[in-house]
Order: sequence, then structure tokens, then C-alpha cells
Amino acid sequence: MLKLKTFAKAIVMLGCALAATSGATAQSAPISQEEAHRRALVLLKQMTLDEKIGQMTQSSGVQMPMLGSDRPDDLITQGKVGSVLWLIDVKEINRLQHLAVEKSRLHIPILFGFDVIHGYRTVFPVPLAMASSWDPKVEEEAQRLAGQDARAAGIQWTFTPMVDIARDARWGRIVEGAGEDPYLGSAMARAQVKGFQGEALGPDSVVACVKHFAGYGAADGGRDYDSSYVPEELMENVYLRPFHAAEEAGAGSFMSAYMDLNDVPATGNRWLLTDVLRKDWGFKGFVVSDAFAVASLQVHGFARDPEDAAYKAASAGLNMDMASQTYTKNLAKVVKAGKISEADIDKLVLPVLEVKYELGLFDHPYVDESQVDAVLNRPEGLALERKVAGRSMVLLKNDNHLLPLKRTAKKVAVIGPLADSTRDIEGGWTVEGLFGGATKNHPVTVLAALKARLGADAQVTFVAGPEPQRLYPSLFDMIQGKKPAAPPTDAEAAEWIAKTKAATADADLVVAVMGEGATMSSESASRSSFDLPGIQQQMLETAVASGKPVVLVLENGRPLDIRWASEHVGAILEAWYPGTEGGNAVADVLFGDVNPGGKLPVSWPRVAGQEPLYYNHNLTHEPEDRPQFTSRYWDISSKPLYPFGYGLSYTTFKFDQLKLSKTSVKAGDATEVSVDVTNTGSTAGDAVAQVYIHQRAGSASRPVRELKGFARVTLKPGETKTLKFPLGKAELEFWSPQTKAWGVEPGTFDVWAGEDSTAALHAELAVE
Ligand code: NOJ
Repeated sequence: MLKLKTFAKAIVMLGCALAATSGATAQSAPISQEEAHRRALVLLKQMTLDEKIGQMTQSSGVQMPMLGSDRPDDLITQGKVGSVLWLIDVKEINRLQHLAVEKSRLHIPILFGFDVIHGYRTVFPVPLAMASSWDPKVEEEAQRLAGQDARAAGIQWTFTPMVDIARDARWGRIVEGAGEDPYLGSAMARAQVKGFQGEALGPDSVVACVKHFAGYGAADGGRDYDSSYVPEELMENVYLRPFHAAEEAGAGSFMSAYMDLNDVPATGNRWLLTDVLRKDWGFKGFVVSDAFAVASLQVHGFARDPEDAAYKAASAGLNMDMASQTYTKNLAKVVKAGKISEADIDKLVLPVLEVKYELGLFDHPYVDESQVDAVLNRPEGLALERKVAGRSMVLLKNDNHLLPLKRTAKKVAVIGPLADSTRDIEGGWTVEGLFGGATKNHPVTVLAALKARLGADAQVTFVAGPEPQRLYPSLFDMIQGKKPAAPPTDAEAAEWIAKTKAATADADLVVAVMGEGATMSSESASRSSFDLPGIQQQMLETAVASGKPVVLVLENGRPLDIRWASEHVGAILEAWYPGTEGGNAVADVLFGDVNPGGKLPVSWPRVAGQEPLYYNHNLTHEPEDRPQFTSRYWDISSKPLYPFGYGLSYTTFKFDQLKLSKTSVKAGDATEVSVDVTNTGSTAGDAVAQVYIHQRAGSASRPVRELKGFARVTLKPGETKTLKFPLGKAELEFWSPQTKAWGVEPGTFDVWAGEDSTAALHAELAVE
């Protein structure tokens, strides 16, 4: 025993010595999971109960009133901090790491975590936009670069991907995920895990954190943090699917959600954290709570006091407490009272240590400060960002081929508060902007890009209008106690409208860049209306009244109420928040250097009152298209303005020859769908072929359509490609509330292929 201890200590000390001499640039081959497990076990044997609980504690890197007066330096040297979050100052990261590695008894390095959601210094489009690319490969590339940047800057753990299904766009966090569909969401979840973690964790990768486990997007009324009531069949068939996909892709960590799921808060939910995640799926990584969520088990009326909160979270299977200090202050008492055994604590600590070994953190604990800027300013980052942004944009309308723009336009009026807003074009959750800090990059706005494109002899007039932030303060501004600015007065509004009138009357073309301020769709940013905030609608109507062609470019994190625009504006391009090179990417699309190929990952509502709105609903007792007593609103169609999967191109495509390799299969066997896609226009472009199915009858009602395959392909004019998609157990099975199990049921399945979720090309499959 003594020998083992000495040996283990030697390994730890050796790691530290190597780190001290070699610095962060020295690379070593990643170690296997087995080896990480072996080393973690050796280390675990040396740890006291307090040190174990320390590894289960994540401390805030910023001082907040609720964190009390504990000095982080003391806690770290006492071995009471396993991880730190919200810290991006590399000098401070190295200083704290030095304390952990050199001054704590067991020299265990700190794992630094941060929300690297869509890029580090180079900011990629928001996740909802990247999902609109329907191109998991490109999302993987983006997250690989983001992860490498983060690692070079001292962050080894990102709280990404957010894989929450969002069927209700009132919920502001829809911007952080892949939209409403579990199949597309799973593909994007896998891509992100692979992007961040690579083939295996090592000194160049970051560990992904799949969040928010689970059901968070189903918040009542679309209000962030509100309760979710989701029956097990919906959890299994919809909400859990992208989580499972991420787990199967090897995600190293999960984050438990804030809300209560079916009355049991997710952070103390044993069904989620143990039964589903560990027992059903065999997850081997660790789960961190969302920030302060262990403490808020009390707020939920679930835990009696902090000790009970620590007990309920740990016994449910939660490995790490984010920021609330509830574990560090209470868990030892829970163990001493015999409510949780130390062996159970060991099980919770072990995966945290394993991940640290897998990341090579014991060998490479420090940031090489001299390299950070060179890595973060790599030019390939910006080039990739521009490509991803272009691929993420969705052309919603293009009457009479208004787009692409002719380069001959000489007088252009650019209107709207987002046209030149560097603060908004990158969207929320940017690393360097998170706490109100200055962004070190220089995002290119649409106005700047258009000016550059049109050249010096063009006359570009800009009318901003009042900033949307004057209506909606950012969450982080509020944390810092800043008050929202006063909304524009009537007189100010009238002045902006007059300016819009003058500028548009004198122009050959109007480009309106409108939408929401970046902080309007984010955490704690739900909306009950999808109106264009402020006076944007009036500005748009003024522009259209000029009789000049108007292109509307949208920057937003959720679908908006654009019913009026969809009837009166010539062209609408959904750019979402396109990132650092966003303006250039918009210009690429407007001028036709990039042919838009993005498709909607959400059903686009007409009004907020239609929410929740999603294409994969069941048939009702009397569907809307029947004559009477139907499922409908008196005042509006139940159908979306634009369907899930929709998006135009500067060319056109024809889908035909839909065939199944076998039209009849045994349950569990596979057939293959094939479909021909032809570019019928005169420009090269990208089509996204989409395959949908419907099970006509069975042990439960099934959705009218479900996406079960897609592929984005580039086609030259006149070119045809035959695309093939498997349709087997994985695509045909579902979790039945009657059998309480997954299975493929015999019966007839409809199969469609085409450009969006309303595709008409149809075939039938018999499952025996
Ligand atoms: C709260 C958010 O819900 C979560 O998504 C985020 O990762 C953590 N805070 C850490 O910033």
C-alpha cells in the first residue's frame, strides 16, 4: 500500500516537474482512456474526503456577491477547487494553475471551463445559424478551430454543445441550439463533440459539455428557467435524442439543466442523471450542474437546506457543483452522517480526474502566454468563419430575381439599427464580450462590407434608427447593475422616419438590416411577441413606400414576425448573427459570390401566438384542412409562414426518381432510399435533399412527418446527382408509451424526399 502511494505521488510529482520544465508548447501523445483510468485510481487512493469534494467543486473566476468572502487562492492551495469558470485572463489562469500545481498537496491541475459557444476570438455564426447550414462537417470544422483557440488560451473545457430541442421560439435560448428537430439536432450535436474533442481528448483539444440535461427547451410558456412537463415518450423520441447522439460521439461531460422536469429539478433528478445517462446509455464522463443550480434546489422547494441540496444532487449522480459552493460546504457532513458512502463519492470524483488525465493537463497545465495572440489571430480562422457564415444563411424570399445584386447600383440606402452594429453581428455568448468586456476582434458589419464592395464611386447613405438595445438591456448589463437606456421618444422616432424617407427616395436600392439586438435572444431573454423591436417596422414600411427595391437582411436569434415584409419586400435574407466576418459573408451572398444554400432548422411562425410550432406534430382529431370543427385559430392559419427545412437558392432544383431498394422489409432490416436531384437553373448551387417518413398506424400515434436523412450537395447547372439514404432500424424505430421500449413496428410507412418538410415526392414502405 505504502509503495503504491509513493509510486502514485512520484507520478504526480513527475507530471508537475515535466510541466514546469516543458511549458505548454511541449506536446505529448494523448493517453488512452484505460491509462487515464488507471492513473486516476492511483491518485484517488491518496485523496482525503475534502480533496475529493474539492475536485467536485467548480469555483467562479469572477467575484460575485453571492460567492461570499472565501479567497480563491486559499481554497486552491487547500485542494478545494477542481475547476474554475468564467476566467479568460491568461495571466490569472497561469497564476491560479501555479497555485494548484505547485502549492496544493496533491498537485492536481485545475480544469478551466468557459462558454466557448460559437468561437473564441474569431466568432462563428450562432449555433442556430450553423444548424441552418445543414452541413455538420462545417460545424465540426468551426468548433475544432474554436476549441484549439480556447485551449491555446488556457480553456480546456467548453460548455458546449447546447443540444436542447426548441419548439417554442419565445424561448430566447433557441439561438444556442440546432432548432426543433431531433435528427438534425443529433447530427449537429455529434459534429460539435467531434470538433471540440477530436478523435480523442488530448493536449490540443477541449472537453465538450452537453447541455442542458434535459428538457430545458420545453419551458412553460417559453419562459427561460420555467418548469418543463414532458412525458417520457416525448423525452425519449425527441428531447433526449441529441443528448444520446452526443454521448455516443464520446462527449466527456454533461451539464444538468436549471428547470424542474416533471416536478423533479434536473440537477437532483436521479432518473436523468443515473438511470438514463449512466445505466441506459453507459456514460463514463462527468456531469456538472448549471451555475448555482445545486443551491437553487432549495429555491425549487426540493431541498430543505444546503446540506439536503448537496445530498440530493450527489445522490442523483451529479459529479460537480458549478459555482454555488454547496458541495464544498456540505457534502462532507452528508458523508459523515452516513447518507452517502465515501465509495459513492469516489465514483463521482473518478471521471473528473480521468478527464484531466485524458486532456494531458497534468503534463501541460500552463498557457504559453507568448503564443496566445498568434493562435487567436490565425488568418485561417477568419476565412473559415466567412465560409461558415455564408453557408448558414437562408434566402427566404427573392421576387423577380432581385438578388443577386447587380454591381452597378450607385446609390444605396442602408437602413436599420443592426447595419453597423459591431456589438450585435456576432450574437450573444461571445467569449470576450461576455462580461461586457471589449471584444478584441473587429467584426465586419454589413454596412462596412457593402461600402467596401460598392467602391468609392458609389453613394451609400446610412440611417441607423434607434438602437434595439434601448428597449432590451443585456443580461450582463443587468448583472452589472446598468439600467436600460430610455426608449426613443416620439419626436426622435419621427426624425428617424423622416431621414429614412429622404434616404430611400434618393436611392436606387435599399438594404435594410434589421432584427433583434444580440442580447434579446439568449439566456433569460424570452419574448412574448416576435415584432421587429423599436421603430424598425415603420422604417421598413417607409422604405417600401419609396417604390425602390428593398432587400431585408435579418440579424436575429429566433424567427420574427415578418408577415408584412414577406408580402411587401422584394428579397429577404436570414443571416442570423453571422459572426466576425458576418458583413463580408452577407455581401458575398447579396452579390452572388456565394449562392445561399442554408435551410430553416425551425418552422417559421407567423405570430408568437402560434408557439409552440413544429412540423413533426401528430395528426389531430380534425386536422386544419377539414371543413369544420378543425384544429385551428379563428384569426390565423396554424401553418408556419415558412416550413421547417425551407430555403431558396439563386438556382432551382428538381427532385425525382424516388425509389426504395426494397419496398418491403422485415422489422429491423433496412432498405435504401434513392432520389435524383437536378440543378435546373443556370447557376451552380447547393441543394439540401431531405428525407421524411411517417408511420401510418401502430401502438402509438406518430408524427405526420419526421426527418430521417439529409445531404447538402453542390450541383453545376444541368447536373444530376443520385443520393442514397439508409432507412433501417435506427430511422424506423420509436419509443412506444405502450411497450415502454424502442422498436420497429410492422405497418405501412410513407416516405417523402425533397427540398423541405412539405416535399411531395412520395413512396411507400411496408414493414412486416
Ligand atoms: C448558465 C447557463 O445556463 C449555461 O448555459 C452556462 O454554460 C453556464 N451559465 C456557465 O456560464
